[in-house]
Amino acid sequence: MKGIILAGGSGTRLNPLTISMSKQLLPVYDKPMIYYPISVLLLAGIKDILIISTPSDLPHYKKLLGNGSSLGVNFSYVEQPSPDGLAQAFILGEEFIGNDDVCLILGDNIFYSEGLTELLKKAVYNAEIEKKATVFGHHVDNPSSFGVVNFDENGSILEFEEKPIKAKSNYAIVGLYFYPRSVVDVAKTVKPSKRGELEITSVNNIFLDRSEICLELMGRGFAWLDTGTFEGLLQASNFIKTVEDLQSLKIACLEEIAFKMGYIDSSQLKYLASKIKNKKYSNYLLKLV
Ligand code: TTP
Repeated sequence: MKGIILAGGSGTRLNPLTISMSKQLLPVYDKPMIYYPISVLLLAGIKDILIISTPSDLPHYKKLLGNGSSLGVNFSYVEQPSPDGLAQAFILGEEFIGNDDVCLILGDNIFYSEGLTELLKKAVYNAEIEKKATVFGHHVDNPSSFGVVNFDENGSILEFEEKPIKAKSNYAIVGLYFYPRSVVDVAKTVKPSKRGELEITSVNNIFLDRSEICLELMGRGFAWLDTGTFEGLLQASNFIKTVEDLQSLKIACLEEIAFKMGYIDSSQLKYLASKIKNKKYSNYLLKLV
């Protein structure tokens, strides 16, 4: 399975922060935002990761992350000349995806929960073995800001709806999607919406029509943080700080995850710790060895 992180977009809601800086490089407490979605892919067992961003921002991601070899993974990069929609990721990533199944995660979505790894494993299984997509619903009180899943009277999925003016459900579809390889061909059939974007919601409706999509609901114990607004960004930083302080454990520490997943060995972890000039961070890594 391959992984794609969409880290482009305009970030207009975060202006002026995002005038000269890509949103997904902004700090969420002690790390760049993109570390959080990368950590989700690593925990899903995905080692081949494509980062898609704007032509002007992509060099900054390359500087931050390199080719991934220090973490035992592969990072590759593709430009998205203009923010033409989430589903464009599969068209831009066609060559990268090759004959594999793929997980798409948005660069500004943060997930935190005890059972996250299990949920990810199930979604990987659905795509690889069952050849079905998996999307995740999370209860929100402002569904009109998101893609929403509507249910019939039996609780089955009726349709996915993009930013409905009057939402029929309070379940938003979060920015984490798993698909079998056929998603590339599906994405190519999608026509731009009224707002001119290739909508992921259209892709999901096609998988629904084929009965090839599973919905997992993220329950109360599941934190989904969307960092696209000032409130969301601050809330995410406060959340990460609180949980890290309470547990004395880091969230989305890429070196730690790579070590625990067996992508790197202890000597590489020691080497990475020696390269980091922040003593607290490097001591944290050394304690893991
Ligand atoms: P959005 O939050 O919908 O858009 P945005 O980041 O441009 O922000 P704003 O609404 O404030 O202008 O995008 C969700 C995520 O997807 C975000 O990480 C940016 C990314 N994205 C792309 O990389 N390419 C795209 O074409 C779109 C639409 C979004």
